[in-house]
Amino acid sequence: MTDIIIDSEEVRVQLGRQSISFPRIPLPPAFLEWQATARQHMFERMTEAGAQAIRRQPAHLPVLATFGQGPFPANLATRGMGLLPAPAYLEEFTRRFEAVLSEAEGRPWSESLPERVRVVKEFYDDVTHFDSWLLGGLEIFEGRTAENLQRNPLASLLYTGEPPAYPSYQFDGVVQFVEAGDPHFRFLLAARELFARDAFHIHQIRYPYGYLFHLAAVRDKTPYPRRDHGAGVEDRE
Ligand SMILES: Cc1cc2nc3c(=O)[nH]c(=O)nc-3n(C[C@H](O)[C@H](O)[C@H](O)COP(=O)(O)O)c2cc1C
Repeated sequence: MTDIIIDSEEVRVQLGRQSISFPRIPLPPAFLEWQATARQHMFERMTEAGAQAIRRQPAHLPVLATFGQGPFPANLATRGMGLLPAPAYLEEFTRRFEAVLSEAEGRPWSESLPERVRVVKEFYDDVTHFDSWLLGGLEIFEGRTAENLQRNPLASLLYTGEPPAYPSYQFDGVVQFVEAGDPHFRFLLAARELFARDAFHIHQIRYPYGYLFHLAAVRDKTPYPRRDHGAGVEDRE
C-alpha cells in the first residue's frame, strides 16, 4: 500500500520514488444540493410506494476510474459513493443510524422502513450536516479497483444525474482506505445497513474496508445548450 499523508490543506502521496501533493478542495455547493435533493426524492418515493419502488439512483452511483498497468490502464467500476457527515456530526449520525438498526432487529424488515427513512432523511435534510471535503464508499468484491488503489491511490469519479438537468461532475482525488474501527467506516457501514435488505441493494454480508475520497480537482461536466460556434465551456449559462 502507498503512503498517504492528509492534513487540512493538502494530500501528499508517495508513488514509488515520486512524491505528489495536491491542495485539498471542497465539493461544489451545487453538487451537495443535488445529492441532498436526489436523496430526498428517493425517500419520498420510498415513503409513498415502499422500498421496492426504487429502480434507479444515479446520484449515488458514480463510475470510479482507477489506474493499473498495461496498454489500457484505466479500470472503471460503478460504485456506491456518497456524502459523509461533517466531523461535528459523524458520531451523532452513526449512533442514530445504529440505534434504528438495532430497533429494527428481529422485526419484519418492511415494518421498520418508516424509522429507517426518517433517520437518514434527517441527515440529508440539511447541507450543513455534510463533510464538503470527502466522499465515501465500501469495498465488496476486492477486485481490480482494490488492487489498483493499493498500488496507486489516485482515482477519478464521474457522477451523472437524471434529466432534464443531467448534473454531471468529474472529481479527481486520492483514495484512503479505512477499516473496521475507523469512525468513517462505522458510518458508511451503518448507512449501508439501513437499506441493506431492501430490493434496490444486493445484500452483502462483508465489507473488507471502505474508501475515503479526498478531492484534488473538480470538473463540471453538466451539459448545457451550446448556442454559438467556436466557443468552449465558457458558454455555460
Ligand atoms: C449499481 C452498482 C453498484 C455497485 N456498488 C458497489 C459498491 O458499492 N462497492 C463495490 O465494491 N462494488 C460495487 N459494485 C460492483 C462494481 O461495479 C464492480 O463489479 C466491482 O468493483 C468489481 O470490479 P473491479 O474488479 O473492476 O473492481 C456495484 C455495481 C453496480 C452495477
